[in-house]
Amino acid sequence: MPKLDISTDAAAIAQGRDLFSAKGCVGCHKIGGGKLVGPDLKGVTARRDPEWLAKMILRPDVMVKEDDTAKKLLAEHMVPMPNQNVDAQKELPLLLSFLKSNEK
Ligand code: HEC
Repeated sequence: MPKLDISTDAAAIAQGRDLFSAKGCVGCHKIGGGKLVGPDLKGVTARRDPEWLAKMILRPDVMVKEDDTAKKLLAEHMVPMPNQNVDAQKELPLLLSFLKSNEK
C-alpha cells in the first residue's frame, strides 16, 4: 500500500469531487442526507481508518468476502459495491481528500 497523501488543498478536493461523479460513486452514495444504495459517506474518514478506506475503495469485491466490517456493511445494504477501477496512485488520494473534506 503506497503512502496515502490525503490533502487539504482546495484543488485536490475539487478534483476528488469530480472523480466522485466520474467514477460513479455518486450514483450509490450521498454525502449527508442518508443512505442511498450504499452508506452515507459523510464523516466516513472519522469512522474508518485511512488504510481500511483505501482497501474498500480499491478492492470492495475482495473486502466484502474477507473483512468483517465490510461483510457487515454488505449484510446491511444487500448490494455488493462493484470494483470501480480506481487508480491507486492518481485517483485514490484525491477521492480520500474529498471524503476527508466532508468529515464534519
Ligand atoms: C453500485 C453502487 C456503488 C457504487 C457505484 C459505489 N459504491 Fe461504495 N458502497 C456501496 C455499498 C452497497 C457499500 C456497502 C458495502 C457493500 O454492500 O458492498 C459501499 C461501501 C463504501 C464505503 C464504506 C462505507 C462505510 O460506511 O464504511 C466507501 C468508503 C465507499 N463505498 C466508497 C465508494 C467510492 C469512493 C465509490 C466510487 C469510486 C463507490 N463507493 C462506488 C455501493 C456502491
